[in-house]
Amino acid sequence: PVATPAAMPAAMPAPAAAPLREAVRRHYLMCRPEHFAVTYAINPWMDPAAGASAELAVAQWESLREAYAALGHQVSLIDPIEGLPDMVFAANGALVVGGRVYGARFTHAERAAEGPAYADWLRGNGFPDVLEPAFTNEGEGDFLTLDHVILAGTGFRTEISAHQEAQEFLGRPVVTLRLVDPRFYHLDTALFPLGGDNVAYYPGAFSPGSRAVLERLFPHAVIADEADAAVLGLNAVCDGRNVVINAEAAGLIKLLDEHGYEPVPVDLSELRKAGGGPKCCTLELRA
Ligand code: ARG
Repeated sequence: PVATPAAMPAAMPAPAAAPLREAVRRHYLMCRPEHFAVTYAINPWMDPAAGASAELAVAQWESLREAYAALGHQVSLIDPIEGLPDMVFAANGALVVGGRVYGARFTHAERAAEGPAYADWLRGNGFPDVLEPAFTNEGEGDFLTLDHVILAGTGFRTEISAHQEAQEFLGRPVVTLRLVDPRFYHLDTALFPLGGDNVAYYPGAFSPGSRAVLERLFPHAVIADEADAAVLGLNAVCDGRNVVINAEAAGLIKLLDEHGYEPVPVDLSELRKAGGGPKCCTLELRA
């Protein structure tokens, strides 16, 4: 007999104990912040009057690079370009899935030259299949890749038409999520993938409809609070087990630990003055 709807649970119950999480080796592209500065303001974190130190940014960034090396990940480097102070935020340079590159097209003129710079590097380093986008999008800042779906942010930077363009080019389903809080202007400031089939996120960053979509897709998500989000704790990088995360996100670090993940705290406070954290500095290259 066919089960009656009442007999079917809406979702599988969560496992009683956190399972052992497995790390998968990654390949990341990063850009040393030699020319880092806060000279313009294109998000609420940036205050040109307060300034920022490239020297301190480089030192903190080196600790991020060392954390990835210690975890066994491969890190490639793109040369920084003078006059592009935000180029350290490699995540925005492209979206690379299945060896194909969906290029970035920046919202603000200040960062426009970064799109071609990242596309050129990728073309010359084993990723010749590059689509020059017709629509505005900021790469992995607004596109987060899970095993079966790509989550895509809109509202501040990336256009919905870019979500459709990426879906058609990459052949992966793309789910649109609407961002509503200007502090969390990129999807990767409000949500990060955990091991390919789950996510952690801050609900307050999303529209009511997008919150409902997230609850339906990820009933066992790790839910962060505003204090975690306000230190860019959601701008984290998970390899399936280890989570490289801003050290100030104490509540989220504890939660991740309880869920069986291994938090790896880093201090990127200088880069936060431009509105970026660990994930912003990291573009994953998926062969
Ligand atoms: N200042 C940069 C901007 O506003 C920060 C980008 C951060 N990157 C990210 N993936 N969220 O564009």
